[in-house]
Amino acid sequence: MKALVYHGPGQRGWDSVEDPKLVDPTDIIVRVDTTTICGTDLHILKGDVPETVPGTILGHEAVGIVEEAGPGVSTVERGDRVLMSCVSSCGRCRFCKEGRYGQCIGGGGWIFGHLINGLQAEYARVPFADTSVYKVPEQLTDEQVLFLADILPTSYEVGVLNGMVSPGDLVAIVGAGPIGLAAILTARLYTPGKIVAIDLADSRLESAERFGADLTINNGREDAVAKVMELTDGLGADTAFEAVGVPATFELAAELIRPGGRLANIGVHGKPASLHLEKLWIRDVTITTGLVDTFSIPQLMRLIASGRLDPSLFATHRFPLDDTMTAYDTFADAANTNALKVVLSGAASQGAPTERTAEAAYV
Ligand SMILES: NC(=O)c1ccc[n+]([C@@H]2O[C@H](COP(=O)([O-])OP(=O)(O)OC[C@H]3O[C@@H](n4cnc5c(N)ncnc54)[C@H](O)[C@@H]3O)[C@@H](O)[C@H]2O)c1
Ligand SMILES: [Zn+2]
Ligand SMILES: [Zn+2]
Repeated sequence: MKALVYHGPGQRGWDSVEDPKLVDPTDIIVRVDTTTICGTDLHILKGDVPETVPGTILGHEAVGIVEEAGPGVSTVERGDRVLMSCVSSCGRCRFCKEGRYGQCIGGGGWIFGHLINGLQAEYARVPFADTSVYKVPEQLTDEQVLFLADILPTSYEVGVLNGMVSPGDLVAIVGAGPIGLAAILTARLYTPGKIVAIDLADSRLESAERFGADLTINNGREDAVAKVMELTDGLGADTAFEAVGVPATFELAAELIRPGGRLANIGVHGKPASLHLEKLWIRDVTITTGLVDTFSIPQLMRLIASGRLDPSLFATHRFPLDDTMTAYDTFADAANTNALKVVLSGAASQGAPTERTAEAAYV
């Protein structure tokens, strides 16, 4: 089969590799029909994620058809259409039992395209199928559910729920990439009073308006703190989300919140940021962090099915799966291409399962 393989910093290929095989009885093999690229894949390609070894197939978001199911799998079968989450769950460890799948210590967590082969491929081995994949209702297209694999639950769980957005709140979102935009969509479910999006790129702020931001601030040109204070009689935002992952934006988000307010950090940080406790200790603020668990996928899927959540704005570019290399170039050059998410579609997309010959390795 063909797959997008990481060959070390700066190097990737659309290579011919061996077909995946069932390894554990709880595995399934999925034919990938629809997949996408995440900013995290670009981080891996930069060499920022040393645990990902050269030779790994990238990708942690996909929809596909079950081709084969191991004998330990009881809730999905050959022919089912399933969504793969960026986070897998062993279903048995302490954290999985608490719904904190991101922290799984039984072999799950964020493993696809990180610790094991990922989903930017024609086929993939999917471990812990019963507790890690989601059947897709017939009336929803692959593209409608694809962004439930990562960005929507991330922004909802780590941003909106951790930040406890309430009706009437002023929500300030620092960073309007796919994560900040998904935060706008899912914050709107709680009827905030105002959503303020802050970014350095005007193109991203235009997207933020399309996604439902009430006000945008380019913090390269304007003083975001002064502007938010002006909107709130000098008090600050009820909740601020950090959706970038650099020290400056964490520190900005901390300055934006009112006494008693909440800062929900979503960004992945590679460097230490300053926590100004000398200013914050007296202000009753709450700061949260988190890796997505994706426990909210079923809830968000119901909202999409009922038309209350519409992720269609994310898909700015579409490519055949065979063109994954071009799709990476387009996605990585977002400043010029205005790409938000690229959708990659497999050749056999949406048909019946295919006949394969790879033998299970567990027997
Ligand atoms: N916590 C989790 O579980 C989780 C899951 C997925 C992604 N993430 C993280 O969320 C963050 C955002 O992801 P994304 O895909 O939207 O990234 P992105 O790079 O596409 O978007 C980041 C945005 O921040 C803007 N920006 C950069 N510097 C800025 C500054 N100083 N002030 C204001 N805006 C600035 C950029 O213009 C861009 O629009 C990343 O750090 C990503 O790794 C976290
Ligand atoms: Zn991701
Ligand atoms: Zn677990």
